[in-house]
Amino acid sequence: MSQQPALELSQRSRWAKDQAISFLMQQAVENRGVISLAAGLVDEASLPVSECRTAMNDLFSDDARARHALQYGTTGGADVLREQLRHHLARLERCSVEQLNLDVKQLVLTTGSQQLLALVADALFDPGDICLVAAPTYFVFLGVLNGVGARAIPIETDARGLNPQALDAELTRLDAAGELPRVKLIYIVSEFENPSGVSIATERRREVVALAKKWSRDHRLFVLDDAAYRELRYDGEARPSLWSFDEARDTVILAQTFSKSFSPGVRVGMGVLPKSLVGPVCDLKGNDDFGSPNLNQHLLATVLASGRYESHVNEVCAAYRLKRDAMLAALDHEFAGVPGVTWLRPEGGLYVWLTLPEEIETGFSSRLFQLATKTHRVMYVPGELCYPAGTAAVRKNQMRLSYGVQDAAGITEGIRRLAAAIRELQT
Ligand SMILES: Cc1ncc(COP(=O)(O)O)c(C=O)c1O
Repeated sequence: MSQQPALELSQRSRWAKDQAISFLMQQAVENRGVISLAAGLVDEASLPVSECRTAMNDLFSDDARARHALQYGTTGGADVLREQLRHHLARLERCSVEQLNLDVKQLVLTTGSQQLLALVADALFDPGDICLVAAPTYFVFLGVLNGVGARAIPIETDARGLNPQALDAELTRLDAAGELPRVKLIYIVSEFENPSGVSIATERRREVVALAKKWSRDHRLFVLDDAAYRELRYDGEARPSLWSFDEARDTVILAQTFSKSFSPGVRVGMGVLPKSLVGPVCDLKGNDDFGSPNLNQHLLATVLASGRYESHVNEVCAAYRLKRDAMLAALDHEFAGVPGVTWLRPEGGLYVWLTLPEEIETGFSSRLFQLATKTHRVMYVPGELCYPAGTAAVRKNQMRLSYGVQDAAGITEGIRRLAAAIRELQT
């Protein structure tokens, strides 16, 4: 038999190998019948079927508009949507469009905010460069950093989000070690963080932006404000964004998405970029796809113009509020008073972050994960995935629970099963 020639893959494909997200998706497929509290998918019942039907009918009632939407678009995105998003952003920021101080070209439309995160990583990092990340953080972004050979350094957080003093201390340490030139970005999921549910405190937002500017000595240190869950607030007052504290608009990149508040199938995300990054990000995007799906952008523009978007978001929030409350009630029921078991109460988003006693590990190869998925048929995301691997920050006794997909009964049953698995482990 003749020998097959060796497969010579790129360094980047080796860096991207074995991402946790693929393993999790695989587990979900292989373990049908398991109640998934792992998936960060959105609530099926509240997807905007009638809003999209009406908008599509409207768009397709005019041949010229429909043809325009069915044609390729531009790399930066459809102008009609970018202009609307400027107004949308002004509403979220509670200011006038003029006060935004933002050229419409600084709004770059992407295939979900995930693409924006990947493009920013591509634009900033050479192998060995450094990204400072809140610990814990969005594990898919850790995969993106791995994929470009960047080093993720964890920064301590608490119930008020990333700690600016710890950030300053780490930057001081990196400076002393001669590594400051390699630090390019601070990454924070600012609202109802995936995975912890925490929103960084307002004062800390101001401090983080000030620190990024203070340490931008020979090169600019950017902040990536990933506000994917911003519009999913169920209680309390909205906070000013990290981006709003960057008055010069040269330091903070704001990433938002319509996947959570509207539909992930439509997959429209946006980046609000400092002027200096618009060219580099669009150049990379040009190589990638020279424009995200135009039809989806025109569909979203039609929905926004119809005024139906806001009422949809209100409905979605009402549905998630009930689910969040169901999960918190179930956790109370199963774990109140159990030593070493704690969780945070999120004001929005899709996640509850659960900490177990130190000795209970939650990882893919742990007894708990096996017991939970195989015997009790419930799945969660192991918390250790949300820390940069191999760092001292990694904690093995935590998990991310999502109330996005299940209905209230599924959530209650899921938490009951999880508690049963944990009890079984302790006996
Ligand atoms: C924190 C965070 N950022 C970004 C994304 C990407 O979402 P999308 O690409 O659908 O906008 C997600 C998706 O779950 C997320 O949780």
